[in-house]
Amino acid sequence: MERLILTNIAQLATCAGAAPKKGKDMSDIGISQFDCVLIEDGIIKEIGYTNDIVSRFASNEYTELDCKCNAVLPGFIDSHTHFVFAGHRQDEFAKRLNGISYMDILKQGGGIANTVNPTREASLDELVETGLKRADAMLEMGVTTLEGKSGYGLDRETEIKQLNALRQINETHPIDVVSTFMGAHLVPKEYANRADEYLEFLINKVMPEVKEKNLAEFTDIFCEEDVFDIEQSRRYLHIAKEMGFKIKIHADEIVDIGGAKLAAELGAVSADHLLKASKEGIKLMAEAGTIATLLPTTAYCLKDSFADARMIIDSGCPVALASDYNPGSSCTCSMPLLISLAALMMNMNTNEIITALTINAACALDRQNEVGSIEAGKKADIIILAYPSIDFLPYYAGINIVKTVIKNGKAIVKDRRTI
Ligand code: NIG
Ligand code: FE
Repeated sequence: MERLILTNIAQLATCAGAAPKKGKDMSDIGISQFDCVLIEDGIIKEIGYTNDIVSRFASNEYTELDCKCNAVLPGFIDSHTHFVFAGHRQDEFAKRLNGISYMDILKQGGGIANTVNPTREASLDELVETGLKRADAMLEMGVTTLEGKSGYGLDRETEIKQLNALRQINETHPIDVVSTFMGAHLVPKEYANRADEYLEFLINKVMPEVKEKNLAEFTDIFCEEDVFDIEQSRRYLHIAKEMGFKIKIHADEIVDIGGAKLAAELGAVSADHLLKASKEGIKLMAEAGTIATLLPTTAYCLKDSFADARMIIDSGCPVALASDYNPGSSCTCSMPLLISLAALMMNMNTNEIITALTINAACALDRQNEVGSIEAGKKADIIILAYPSIDFLPYYAGINIVKTVIKNGKAIVKDRRTI
């Protein structure tokens, strides 16, 4: 048995309690009076006082990790990314800096389509190799669970290849990877002006194989003006749900076309983006228990207005935060930048941000019984900061102050040097 004891914690944010957290409860991150966590074989066993717990074992029966009076919290969960892709789109980013919009580039045949060609050409090994490097970078910032989507193949072979890459990364990297099938990311050129036929192709020729090989747990669609409309999204997601997939939606990112309402109607696990979502749509999501996953770095990289986090939290809708890391609209997986933007541009407080990156993000991946909080029985996925309080997270704007990352009870990032 492997026993790890975290001792001398200055502030322990457990994020325990009923999940997901909504409204005022998002500010309750379960600050514990205790200063010690006992971990056995990768699972959290007990939270208590350092002297009590340590005195129970002979010195050769445990490894001590002295937290040296720093803050401890659950590992971050990045519940929305497109991190397996090939090629870059820095030229489009430069165009956007000159005033051309993301949607104009997409309508001219660029955008997502410009990532499809290199991703089709890349080998499985290349996708795995770049994906592993990106996962390493995320781990350093405290990410211990990560969602990844397909959607840069838009043909059977490449969609399956992307999902196989996600599976291999999950098997080889310490981070847990949750896979989402997103063949419905864009209508490929082979199906130009035939969106319905493309969706039928996905439903009949790709999704059954994804299901049969258990390559994805979730299905997602880009429900947006000039991409897939509400009717198409409704039918597609309804069929995906009947096939046994859990549902996510890219909703109301550029235009409010009713994506939030559709998410509520279908009982989606999460609706993501919501920059333009209506109050009514959010209210329906709150009633349905759908998580609102907000993606601050996307709004930032698109120079768009941020999702109305205050309205969404105050409506009682549980909020998660994620990076949306992809080569087009959110060219970053930076947790420090995300935290800064959520705090300073979306008016979320530190506790709400932590809730949104831990237990609520776990709910957005249906992993709330395994991860997202520091409670007996959960995986020991834990971050130690370089400072005694979680308030240092937004305070040190854009700086990674994660010192140690524990994944499944093992300190795999240890004593990083940070300011
Ligand atoms: O979540 N909006 C759709 N999909 C991604 C962007 C993908 C891309 O531009 O490559 C998003 O923003
Ligand atoms: Fe996305």
